[in-house]
Amino acid sequence: MKIIKVSDYEEMSRKSAKMFYQMIDQQPNIRLGLATGSTPIGFYKYLTEFLQAEETDVSKLLSFNLDEYIGLDPQSPQSFYTFMKEHFYQPLGLNQGQTFIPDGSVSDPDEESKRYEQHIREAGGIDVQLLGVGTNGHIGFNEPGTPFNQRTHQVKLKESTRDANARFFDSKEDVPTHAITMGIGTILDAKKVVLLASGERKADAIYQLVNGEVSEDWPITALKNHPDVTLFVDKDAAAQL
Ligand code: GLP
Repeated sequence: MKIIKVSDYEEMSRKSAKMFYQMIDQQPNIRLGLATGSTPIGFYKYLTEFLQAEETDVSKLLSFNLDEYIGLDPQSPQSFYTFMKEHFYQPLGLNQGQTFIPDGSVSDPDEESKRYEQHIREAGGIDVQLLGVGTNGHIGFNEPGTPFNQRTHQVKLKESTRDANARFFDSKEDVPTHAITMGIGTILDAKKVVLLASGERKADAIYQLVNGEVSEDWPITALKNHPDVTLFVDKDAAAQL
């Protein structure tokens, strides 16, 4: 694992975006795996800026998001689709034929999970997967205890995850109880993984990733089995290293 220690959120965002910019520039038909949450907001801002400044051709890239809540209309303000539209799809003028995210509004989320997994496979797999991490070490919405070989599936969210994400909703009750997420097996199939971690809330998870044993108790430790992981970590998230 390559560990890039940076001073703060801003530097993490800029340096990781520069890395993605260079990959997109070199491989215009790249298949990106993307993430939501507060962590990658700065990353998307810089990546959009770099691509626009260089007038990079983004018409051939494909993007696949990690996860989506079940039971939210894609157009609702809190859906991960809306997040992606605002921070990435619209600023770059990407179209619906190149941007993919599980549809959590369907009547059969298990079927949707299978369809999404198959879609990724048929597209040829993911070249580079961006990840954030939950305070309990979850990646995507793969909570502690998730088998590492799982593919895209439906999950019940831990209360701690619903609490952590309640800040995006009017009240905790409004936070969906379930989600569709790429499995850890899906994530590990990406050729390259780039993980962003900022802030002291992430320090335990980063400690487990770097110094802990591989264990389902900390989903992030699955990345220890991946041959090409780059971690961008700021001072606060690296506090225990
Ligand atoms: C959510 C997402 C994850 C994300 C995590 C951390 O639960 N499903 O993909 O990494 O939260 O979020 P944040 O970056 O806001 O701390």
